[in-house]
Amino acid sequence: EKGTYPHFMLKEIDEQPFVMRNIINKYQNEDGKLKLDDDIRQAMTAADRVYIIACGTSYHAGLVGKQLLENIAKIPVEVHIASEFVYNMPLLSEKPLFIFISQSGETADSRAVLVEVKRLGHKALTITNVPGSTLSREANYTLNLYAGPEIAVASTKAYTAQIAVLAILAVDSAHAKGIELDFNPMQELAIVANAMETLCSQKEQMENIAREYLSVARNCFFIGRSADFYVCLEGALKLKEISYIQAEGFAGGELKHGTIALIEEGTPVIALATQEHVNLSIRGNVKEVAARGAYTCVISMDGMQDEEDRIVLPAVHAYLTPLVSVLPLQLISYYAALHRDCDVDKPRNLAKSVTVE
Ligand code: F6R
Repeated sequence: EKGTYPHFMLKEIDEQPFVMRNIINKYQNEDGKLKLDDDIRQAMTAADRVYIIACGTSYHAGLVGKQLLENIAKIPVEVHIASEFVYNMPLLSEKPLFIFISQSGETADSRAVLVEVKRLGHKALTITNVPGSTLSREANYTLNLYAGPEIAVASTKAYTAQIAVLAILAVDSAHAKGIELDFNPMQELAIVANAMETLCSQKEQMENIAREYLSVARNCFFIGRSADFYVCLEGALKLKEISYIQAEGFAGGELKHGTIALIEEGTPVIALATQEHVNLSIRGNVKEVAARGAYTCVISMDGMQDEEDRIVLPAVHAYLTPLVSVLPLQLISYYAALHRDCDVDKPRNLAKSVTVE
């Protein structure tokens, strides 16, 4: 039920702090230790390489998951779009583990890969929001997202839940491998939940940006580096699917290799600047596009801000910035769609769960 909300999408965006806290509770024992099945832990430590398979928003969460698993648990990871993987399978490592990320657990493209993976005799773990879904039943192991039903076609809370669960999985695997960490995922996710709450209370600001930048825009670019780049891909997908504005996410460093030719007087460019190690470079990119007429909007993080930034996100741990940087992009897309009279919860040509290949 939508309750007092005009749309499910807005309700689901607002639910994200609760989802984070729910995940903390579900994945933590009373003694504060992580609560994951032993056989999942064993499968993770036995694997010499993880293959993440997903589509759309879940694929974007997988890209962030790769960074988490590689940096925290030191496990090599490849991320693949399910529909491509089926006929373009890479050479597999000796002991692969497959992770399927799917909100619905019913996506046909991902299922086709799971069927093939099982035929080859490999193990699979499904991360899903729907216990008992096809991908959950057919995989060896399941991790639940505990995000509650996601009704709006545009995925929001499932994306952040997927990243949170991947972070917990990465830390659990690191512990199992004896890797020392100074990163407590539950403490850091609690900080993320508070940051999300703060951002959810700044809707007017997001609405103003949507009106100012996107009410008549033909296109929009999202630029970022490192983890911000992955969030840009997700921000662009959100905007495309509900507002029908042509949008693309680009790696800041790639701009000069072609994309910058698209920048005209007034082209909206939304830049994420939450990554300390590339802060100067992304700000350089913002200047480059602004010099060519782009109408720029910088979203940065506390501690890295400049005077002209439109949104300064509350600081969170460097591993978890996507969980908060995506939130303004979700809200900006929502308000852009609203201003353009689009059907936010049921965009044209799209279905919530894509059960055909
Ligand atoms: C975007 C969106 C889709 C899904 C994709 C995969 O907002 O909802 O891109 O993410 O169809 O769906 P699941 O995660 O159910 O496998």
